Amino acid sequence: MTSASQQIMRLGFGFAVSQALRVIIELGVPDLLAAGERSVDELAAATQSEADALYRVMRLLAPEGVFREVGPRHFELTELGAALRSNQSGPRDFVRMINSEPYLAFEQLLYSARTGKPAFDKVFGSPRFEWLSEHPEQAALFQRAMVAMSQGSNEAVAEAYDFGPFTRVVDLGGGHGQLLSAILARNPHLGGVLFDLPSGVAAARQGDGGNLPRTEFIGGDFFESVPSADVYVIKKVVHDWDDERAALILRNCRKAMQPNGKVLVAETLVPPGDEPNLIKGIDVVMLAITGGLERTEVQYASLFNAAGLQLERVIETKGPISILEASPA
Ligand SMILES: C[S@@+](CC[C@H](N)C(=O)[O-])C[C@H]1O[C@@H](n2cnc3c(N)ncnc32)[C@H](O)[C@@H]1O
Repeated sequence: MTSASQQIMRLGFGFAVSQALRVIIELGVPDLLAAGERSVDELAAATQSEADALYRVMRLLAPEGVFREVGPRHFELTELGAALRSNQSGPRDFVRMINSEPYLAFEQLLYSARTGKPAFDKVFGSPRFEWLSEHPEQAALFQRAMVAMSQGSNEAVAEAYDFGPFTRVVDLGGGHGQLLSAILARNPHLGGVLFDLPSGVAAARQGDGGNLPRTEFIGGDFFESVPSADVYVIKKVVHDWDDERAALILRNCRKAMQPNGKVLVAETLVPPGDEPNLIKGIDVVMLAITGGLERTEVQYASLFNAAGLQLERVIETKGPISILEASPA
């Protein structure tokens, strides 16, 4: 039986596993193992790595279920590891993104815990989305990471809501555009607006999230104003911001929306209790990186109130994401 201190040590080593995953993705190891087991010497030659060092990184990941060491210094890919191959729309870009600047900022989580402010701003000198606007390569990776993180949930949101009564949908902070693409494919009567910062619009224009017919692309700032429409979808955006900033986005929708319009906030609700749930990890990432937070249904209801909206209903989807539908109060 593992002692308490060994278990705590293991938790404290989470950073090593996290970076090791990034390393094997960057080196393309999962693709090299796609055809079957290989020796570390072969993998090191193919990836211009140092064989003993690569072995140690892979040996760390094998007990985590990413590889199987089938013979001395010979590895094969497991089902888990196969999700990291480049032909999979899996989590690889998310792992790469979260282990770059967010990883560095996370070293200052203590600062966030003490102040409630994002460590990212302290470490990088500007807020996350401003910093991304000045770093196009990382902004492009961020958008691909958002696609990776959304696997299944964009389709789930598009499927779960009846867009029949509407004519124009704005995907606010729609980034890569995968949600808008799924909504437009299911609703040929709808026209769409993809609204995001210029870096997000660029990803959508180049088709990162799929086809966007009948779409107007608008680069702008949702804290300033938003385009007029009868339905807004705002997925995984409100969680990036504290209550004051989040209410400002929603208030701008309230100002611009048609009287019979709807605002649909798509987010993962924080469940009560202390069961493990990925959203609790994402919540702390929000604390340290953007200054946002994950919320309960009650917290979203009061956010809508602060913006002159009222929460009508919560629609569950097939994915780990809910749709909070609001109307003018
Ligand atoms: C967490 S991502 C979510 C992207 C997408 N909705 C999804 O679900 O994958 C947040 C998005 O908000 C955009 N964003 C951040 N600040 C913005 C602003 N001031 N105005 C418009 N878009 C903004 C970012 O560029 C990014 O695409």
